[in-house]
Amino acid sequence: MRIKSPHHVRFQVPDLNKTEAFAQDFGLLTVERTEQRLVMRTGGGDAFAYSAEKGAENKFLGLAFEVESKSDLESAISEHGASPIRELTTPGGGIAVTLLDPNGFEIDLVYGIERVNPEEAYKHLEMNAPGQYTREGRFYPKRPMGPAKLFRLGHVGLFIPSFAETLPFYKEVLGLIPSDIYHVPGMPHVQIVGFCRLDRGEELVDHHVIALMQSQTGETACHHISFEAQDFEAQFMTHRYLESKDYELVWGVGRHPHGSHIFDVWRDPDRNRFETFSDTDRMKASDGTQVHNIAEVDMDAWRSDPPDRYFE
Ligand SMILES: [Fe+2]
Repeated sequence: MRIKSPHHVRFQVPDLNKTEAFAQDFGLLTVERTEQRLVMRTGGGDAFAYSAEKGAENKFLGLAFEVESKSDLESAISEHGASPIRELTTPGGGIAVTLLDPNGFEIDLVYGIERVNPEEAYKHLEMNAPGQYTREGRFYPKRPMGPAKLFRLGHVGLFIPSFAETLPFYKEVLGLIPSDIYHVPGMPHVQIVGFCRLDRGEELVDHHVIALMQSQTGETACHHISFEAQDFEAQFMTHRYLESKDYELVWGVGRHPHGSHIFDVWRDPDRNRFETFSDTDRMKASDGTQVHNIAEVDMDAWRSDPPDRYFE
């Protein structure tokens, strides 16, 4: 099966008004809003990247990956027991099948969803540096203060009770490749965290599309969803904007050592973590896997420790 990219995440939330207000401030754009459903997109061209259904409690419902062809859906059914092909009723149409990961997360594979016109990105940030004064004249920042321009759903972090029991599904069924794995100190075979990328052969892909994190409490939950922002300046500006609106910061702005991406994590009104990222490492299938002792991993290259609320 050839997975092309992460496509969207699905949540259930109690108050669509509150969720929509936060998500718009964060940078998502509303595509459809009814009493029962909220569907939002980034500016990158995917018909949608986030959907929420109204329900009694806050719940992560699952995530979807886009595949190359209808035959990928058929092989997911014949080889991995996916549900029958169904038509999607979300914007852009298309078809889908559903797989269940070992923790009960619904993993949809989608195909044929029509894209929309992408928004224009900001002008690339040119920066002067000693010995490399490449930007001439005056710098007029033209970017408005406000929600980030987002370009795609990049990755999803999952809290799982057992890394060992979860990784084989993502490797063998979805064909993902671990980029970096963390093990408990002194026990290289006891692995608890893994960042997995797509297998696109020689094509460059993000360092990870899925982060699997073994929870200390045995919890099964979405840890965070992450959308690509243009660059760190866009992230810093949106950080200030979300701060001005009194949303709850989780952690950021910082830079992860594995994946190298700059991150900024906030909570929505139901305490789901929403992240912006930029400047991620891009890797090929042949770039391999590295295994690290978690005690020796600094989670922020800019030296802030993750606060407890990052894991709770
Ligand atoms: Fe992330």
